Amino acid sequence: MTDGLRKGLTSYGDAGFSLFLRKAFIKAMGYSDDALDRSIVGITNTYSDYNPCHGNVPQIIEAAKRGVMLSGAMPFVFPTISIAESFAHPTSMYLRNLMAMDTEEMIRAQPMDAVIVIGGCDKTLPAQIMAAVSADLPTVVIPVGPMVVGHHRGEVLGACTDCRRLWAKYRAGEIDDGEIEAVSGRLAPSVGTCMVMGTASTMACITEALGLSLPMSATIPAPHAERFRLAEASGRVAAAMAAAKGPRPSELLTKSAFRNAQVVLQAIGGSTNGLIHLTAIAHRTPHRIDLEAFDKLGREVPVLIDLKPSGQHYMEHFHHAGGVPRLLAQLGDLVDLDARTIEGKTVRQVAAAAEDVPGQDAIRPRQMPIKPEGGLAVLHGNLAPRGAVIKHSAATAKLLQHTGRAVVFESVEDMTLRLDDPALDVTADDVLVLRNAGPKGAPGMPEAGYLPIPKKLARAGVKDMVRISDARMSGTAFGTIVLHITPESAIGGPLALVKNGDMIRLDVQRRSIDLLVDEGELKRRSAALKSAAAPPWASRGYAHLFNEAVLQADEGCDFDFMRAKGKG
Ligand code: FES
Repeated sequence: MTDGLRKGLTSYGDAGFSLFLRKAFIKAMGYSDDALDRSIVGITNTYSDYNPCHGNVPQIIEAAKRGVMLSGAMPFVFPTISIAESFAHPTSMYLRNLMAMDTEEMIRAQPMDAVIVIGGCDKTLPAQIMAAVSADLPTVVIPVGPMVVGHHRGEVLGACTDCRRLWAKYRAGEIDDGEIEAVSGRLAPSVGTCMVMGTASTMACITEALGLSLPMSATIPAPHAERFRLAEASGRVAAAMAAAKGPRPSELLTKSAFRNAQVVLQAIGGSTNGLIHLTAIAHRTPHRIDLEAFDKLGREVPVLIDLKPSGQHYMEHFHHAGGVPRLLAQLGDLVDLDARTIEGKTVRQVAAAAEDVPGQDAIRPRQMPIKPEGGLAVLHGNLAPRGAVIKHSAATAKLLQHTGRAVVFESVEDMTLRLDDPALDVTADDVLVLRNAGPKGAPGMPEAGYLPIPKKLARAGVKDMVRISDARMSGTAFGTIVLHITPESAIGGPLALVKNGDMIRLDVQRRSIDLLVDEGELKRRSAALKSAAAPPWASRGYAHLFNEAVLQADEGCDFDFMRAKGKG
């Protein structure tokens, strides 16, 4: 038998001795032979004092352990890297692949028959899932859950759509120092992830749609008792999967599962980051996310979830309206109802068991959508030969077809220095361009794509402008913002060729983004570009590895050597 503690013995050249030694040492923790003879469920601990979104992880772990033990298996908790969005320099995305490698190797190195991965804050769920998919051990995902909403002057508030909206008001001089200080204490009133449809919520919904977590796991608020009951139930399921040796991620993550995840991503008005992470997860399997097909789905799948930033409500409202199972029931034949989940159920069974909540208005029926088309569109054109993304459900409708003069910022630092300069030559009709903010350029593709409206325009009442970049943007943000322009400018993508005053045309209906400069001139500009030497930040360590191996946004920004062989 090679299960439980006998799995993956340390190599001393004598298997009997390896097991003897392993047992001798672990007995120092007070375990009995009976405990050490059981199947093992590993549980990742992603708690960190730097990560308030994961503040309930200790309670989740306790509940999950209870579920494992009630089912006769042994839980073993082990730490992995934790990444909190606002505590990661230069940006959390830079660390996602490191977290994925850490988690994967710890799953492989230590004896376990199944694993529970716990994540939530933006990059943590993708990292843990990428790891689990590559390790391909039976896996249950427990998201930490969203925060509950906050209140300010009679208004419901939430991180972080309202963080940005109220900060923009502060920049425009509409609210003062005292009020912005009060707001900072009300935007995040509990532990848990941002409670709008940002990246964390998007990834939790996608995880449920992929069948990797239990029904309702995406939406139960982080502090609610129900979240810990779900964790206990997840422990039971993981123990059953350890005994049955499946299903493994490779059995659940079929072509249909990935299609279902894309449908849900469109229908929830999900974060643009969700597309990058889903692409990275798919690249760990034989499947791929085809950007054209994803865009086509977007024309067929309406936005049904009325959550900020595309709509009005917050995650707890989505939860009380029936959560992802009710959404799947509304989507009906738009998803593959035969796809399976960790419990061995079909999506059809999950949808059939969804609660029907009378009078709720957070999950719309298909005939009454929030937006008739999905939340995300993929653009191509001479500025983005390998694609760019816009969350058009959270954009200003009249700017979706717009031609304007480019106002170019060379880097995030350049933008920070010059954007609010009263002498900056900029009008509301211009197109703000940020470059050198892609996967290699910044590095880590920071969430700088939400360029603030220049102060002098904000003070004149301008709320939105067309903004384009090779950066990412928080899924919580609102605006007419083109992101992930690929290839990025730092490796010579056409964004590097834009000059101040060039005209740029955005046409979301036609899915195009173009630089209106003739081809001969673009060729001349391209020939004059100096080829970039390795940047100083990449001289050693993880930074060196990152700069050498990170892929572009259309391939999920994973490391090139982490991909699985694709099908065809
Ligand atoms: Fe952690 Fe938003 S900051 S989910």
